Amino acid sequence: MSAAGSAPVTRARLAAMKTAGEPIAMLTAYDATFARAIDAAGVDCILVGDSLGNVVQGRDSTVPVTIDDIAYHTACVRRGVQRALLIADLPFLSYSSIDVAIDAARRVMQAGAAMVKLEGGEPIFEAVERLSALGVPVCGHLGLTPQAVHQLSGYKVQGRDREARDRLVDEAGELERRGAGLLVLECVPASLARAVAEAVTIPVIGIGAGVEVDGQVLVLHDALGLGGAHRPRFVRDFMDGAESIPAALEAYVRAVRARDFPNAEESYAD
Ligand code: KIV
Repeated sequence: MSAAGSAPVTRARLAAMKTAGEPIAMLTAYDATFARAIDAAGVDCILVGDSLGNVVQGRDSTVPVTIDDIAYHTACVRRGVQRALLIADLPFLSYSSIDVAIDAARRVMQAGAAMVKLEGGEPIFEAVERLSALGVPVCGHLGLTPQAVHQLSGYKVQGRDREARDRLVDEAGELERRGAGLLVLECVPASLARAVAEAVTIPVIGIGAGVEVDGQVLVLHDALGLGGAHRPRFVRDFMDGAESIPAALEAYVRAVRARDFPNAEESYAD
């Protein structure tokens, strides 16, 4: 467990962990039972991800996930969490205008979330600023943004060329200026992720972004070896060598804290 023991994790605590160089462990959850086990393992942040479209609903993207789906699973997860900071995704097109974003944030915050996560850069700056000003803690999400899978023509590593790298660093800085308190960075070269983590003061949580960021997140099913036939390079099966699911979850937290996950083979080079 983190140095802060069993005190509930707050945005301020996550900022202090970045300052202290203490890696933050995050996992997704979709129900109370797994949320309780993940919380007990010492995970700092639990994300009700719209990945529930894939791993709970069996869909091939997150696009069909609705705000009702997220609110329902957030309420379920809330009942299992005592310590971790609970973050809920705002799903596809639920923050395309300020009014819609405010309504979506209200739904998931009233269901029990303590922070909302939005995907994208420039098009969401205004929503991030408005939600933050209204007292809604916001987590950004840059790099591979799965809600834009059709526009990106598939799940591909992002930020490969100079222009895309520069844009991503700029967008991360702007999200921080607009009030974001946390940033998820997905599927980018490790050197770019390091540059982003150095450029902002808010914690940067990587998934497929190398080890030189402020924390790691995985989809729960991937971390437990249930991700299916195609295993992305950045996934490690923590059930491998573990005697039980709680032991696997603790192994994940240990590996993140020790910066033993991800290793070079589990990261993307330039
Ligand atoms: O929906 C999700 O689970 C996510 C994580 C992959 C970061 O956004």
